[in-house]
Formats: sequence, structure tokens, C-alpha cells
Amino acid sequence: MNVGILGTGNLAVTLGRAWAVAGHSLLVAGRNPLHASGAADQIGPAAEAVDPSDFPTRVDVLVIAVAWEGLEAALSLVGGPRGSLAGKTVIDCTNPVDYTTGELKPASGSAAALVAHTAPGARVVKALHLFAGASWPYVGPQESAPVVAICGDEPRALDRAAVLIQDLGGQTAVVGGLGSARQLEEAAGFVMRVVAAGYNPRLAVPEVDPALLRATQTTTE
Ligand SMILES: NC(=O)c1ccc[n+]([C@@H]2O[C@H](COP(=O)([O-])OP(=O)(O)OC[C@H]3O[C@@H](n4cnc5c(N)ncnc54)[C@H](OP(=O)(O)O)[C@@H]3O)[C@@H](O)[C@H]2O)c1
Repeated sequence: MNVGILGTGNLAVTLGRAWAVAGHSLLVAGRNPLHASGAADQIGPAAEAVDPSDFPTRVDVLVIAVAWEGLEAALSLVGGPRGSLAGKTVIDCTNPVDYTTGELKPASGSAAALVAHTAPGARVVKALHLFAGASWPYVGPQESAPVVAICGDEPRALDRAAVLIQDLGGQTAVVGGLGSARQLEEAAGFVMRVVAAGYNPRLAVPEVDPALLRATQTTTE
């Protein structure tokens, strides 16, 4: 796939490198062309720095990897408010979270909803905000692969996101429509709060075997 990455920082480079290994072509852009060239260089030969206005015609999927504060401005560079991303799969990785308190910054809604609002017609999927970019690619037993919870309203866009997650070595759990994005974004805040309290978030959620749970439910029905 031709994967556009809007953002030129840590996540752009780590995801870009992992997708390059999987054989994808990366197009990288942000508000600063020098940062875009630097990010493309760090990703390697599969990456090209482009102008953000090139994204609508050149990419199959657009991945948003910018700071929450820059989300609307970055989408404007792509022409999102003018409908340039209509029909395009857009994966929002933004964490609109205060890293020190774990509090979600939007008073209501979600970063993903803001993307959908700012880029009318875009097929928005919330995904890949919870794990550090450096987690990818995952190499190990499939049953232990990170589960990436995602949500969105468009089945085709969810399918495309699932392919890209699979190419990172992850498993995909579709948890609902885009209205579920705030909950997924809250999950990042929850993780930060548990870490701030001095604990490993992996130990802060119960271990549940879905097969066992289903069997128990069937028996009790
Ligand atoms: N790093 C991770 O492992 C990770 C994992 C999951 C999710 N995320 C999320 O992904 C996003 C990017 O994280 P990061 O670690 O890559 O951050 P980063 O290294 O600090 O990069 C931030 C990117 O956002 C851009 N940006 C900041 N303010 C902007 C504005 N006002 N207008 C346009 N662009 C702006 C920066 O552009 P300049 O270079 O021009 O400043 C840069 O390209 C964040 O929302 C973060 O929560 C990160």
C-alpha cells in the first residue's frame, strides 16, 4: 500500500520503519518540510518526503501521527476541511491526553471525532494510539501478539487498518463504531494513570479467556 504519514516525529518514524519492512511505501509530510525529509531518511529508502497537499492523490491510507494540539492545523495542510480526504481511509493515532495526569483533553467527543469533523467524508478509524511505536514490528508467537483495539464506522476502512496492523505483527479487535473512540482514547489515559501510580498496566486489567467465558455463558443459559 501507499501509506501516507501525517507527522514527522517519533511515531511517524517507528511505524514507517515497521511498515517499510512489511513492503509498504511511505509518504511522509508535516508542517515542516525539513522534519519530513529527516523522518523519511530515518525510515529508509521506502519513504519519501512529500508536501501534505500530495496526500489525497497519492496515498491509499493516511495515518495521523501529530500532537493533539496540531491536529486541526495538520489536517488543514492536507485540505481536509475542503473535502480532500472524502472517501479516504484515515487512521487516527492521536493521544489527546495530558501525559502527567492521564486526563483526556477534549471536554467531549474524541480526537477521532475531531478528525471526522475537520475532514468531512474521511473514513476515520481510531487505532494504534495505545502501544508505543517502538513496540512494532512485533515478532513472536501469534497468540501473544499485541491486540490493537480499533473502532470506526466504515467496514472497508476497518479492513484496511486491520491489514496494516497485521503487517506490524499485531492482532485487531474491532470494538465498535467511531462513537467508541473516546473510550479507546480514555484507555491511554488509564494506562498513564496506572503507570504514574507505580504499577504495570498489564497487571491492572483482569485476564479473561473469551472461549472460557463463552462456554460458561452457554452453560448458564
Ligand atoms: N510516540 C509513540 O510511541 C506514540 C504511540 C502512540 C500514539 N502516539 C501519538 O502520536 C502523536 C505523535 O506522537 P510522537 O511521539 O510522534 O510526537 P513527536 O515526536 O513530538 O512529534 C509530533 C509531531 O506533531 C507535529 N505537530 C506538533 N504540533 C503541531 C501543530 N501545531 N501543527 C502541525 N503539526 C504539529 C510535530 O511537528 P514539528 O516537528 O513541526 O513540531 C511532529 O511532526 C501524538 O498524538 C502521540 O500521543 C505516539
